[in-house]
Amino acid sequence: EKIPLEMHKVRIVQKLNLPPIEQRVKAIEEAGYNTFLLKNRDVYLDMLTDSGVNAMSDKQQAAMMEADDSYAGSETFTRLENKIKEIFGKEYFLPAHQGRACENIIAQTFVEKGSIIPMNYHFTTTLAHIVLNGGSVKELFTNEALKVRSDYPFKGNMDIAKLRDLIETYGAEKIPFVRLEAGTNLIGGQPFSLENMHEVRKVCDEFGILLVLDASLLADNLYFIKEREEKYKTKSIREITREIADLSDIIYFSGRKLGSARGGGICTNSKEIYMKMREYVTLYEGFLTYGGMSVREMEAIAVGLEETMDENMINQGPQFIAYMVEELQKKGVPVVTPAGGLGCHIDAMEFVDHLPQTEYPAGALAAALYIVSGIRGMERGTLSEQRDENGNETLANMELLRLAMPRRVFTLSQVKYAIDRILWLYENRNLIGGLKFVDEPKVLRFFFGRLTAT
Ligand code: F0G
Repeated sequence: EKIPLEMHKVRIVQKLNLPPIEQRVKAIEEAGYNTFLLKNRDVYLDMLTDSGVNAMSDKQQAAMMEADDSYAGSETFTRLENKIKEIFGKEYFLPAHQGRACENIIAQTFVEKGSIIPMNYHFTTTLAHIVLNGGSVKELFTNEALKVRSDYPFKGNMDIAKLRDLIETYGAEKIPFVRLEAGTNLIGGQPFSLENMHEVRKVCDEFGILLVLDASLLADNLYFIKEREEKYKTKSIREITREIADLSDIIYFSGRKLGSARGGGICTNSKEIYMKMREYVTLYEGFLTYGGMSVREMEAIAVGLEETMDENMINQGPQFIAYMVEELQKKGVPVVTPAGGLGCHIDAMEFVDHLPQTEYPAGALAAALYIVSGIRGMERGTLSEQRDENGNETLANMELLRLAMPRRVFTLSQVKYAIDRILWLYENRNLIGGLKFVDEPKVLRFFFGRLTAT
């Protein structure tokens, strides 16, 4: 057994509750079988997301005490800007309150009616912003990306031939940028290789198209490049980061995942791009030296980005996830392999193969796991999709239950508890029924929608 080791110790704790099963049944009913609507007090292990819930270090806490509060020209902002410059080598930094705010700014700046945005895979908020501005998304993943069981190390890669085809079909003038997402979220936190990114860049250069990196899950991707890509085994995390950054025209990130627990930002070396985007920051986010973030958050990100350069920090998530994935796989539970970053992803299509996609198998599995364990996961399947113009369901490519592993938060015994409960549920999976909407919002319905048993 490969036991992952915590490379930190716990010095501040938060008490947890494990409510009895009767209470859990009541809580999930009241939440409309939507784990987003559960109250945290009814949750034992919150594996909904890794966003905003990663553990902070003593050094981050210390920096937050020293933050320099001011509306304009805060020292804190300068420290963050300098850290971005140092790590990514980008001259211009625009702060924003979180990742989707960056997406709003980028989409408003570059996307117009008829624009086409190629990417390795979409993320929910990214897609929503592009569509809102009249554009459409083309996902150019490789044939390996959607295979649940695979040993392909870089399922987040973009298919270069498809990228060329797309540009030749639609013309470069319709494509304001190519977007690469690090640690590709919706296919199971899967990385792209640096070799693949070099190839994408080559095509972008050939056709004069910008390359935008969504670096929200960069920490995991960095770790996997170092672990899995022969050429980079001897390179430092800092060197790999710089190589990725040098290939990107624009980098944006959610600080809720990268570096800290709040905030976000966009950086670039192009003054022209910076000037174009700048006004949206003051319009939607706040003044240019805070962009909707508090100074404490900015201090935490600056320190967090530095800590991300430490391999013993960024290996924690992937190693605990790999342990969980391997233990479940040994017992035959269908999980996404190879283990990615972000969390352990269970294949609901197979776990509850008696449910059709129109009854939201991944949503049903999320509700069932909560009932049997008090663990809150997140549906990532058809429920997270949007209906088409005619009101028809868009069936997702994958039906996943994501069990996120907030970084440096859970202990190994908690992870073992999760494994034990999932194994029980797998043996009793015939108990799980389907779901249907009783209240279905139009946009990002998975957040607030309420469902009931079919
Ligand atoms: N891009 C990626 C790859 C993300 O995973 C997220 C957020 C965003 C952009 C948007 O950032 O939340 O700060 O506005 N992912 C979260 C999740 C919500 O749970 O996977 P945000």
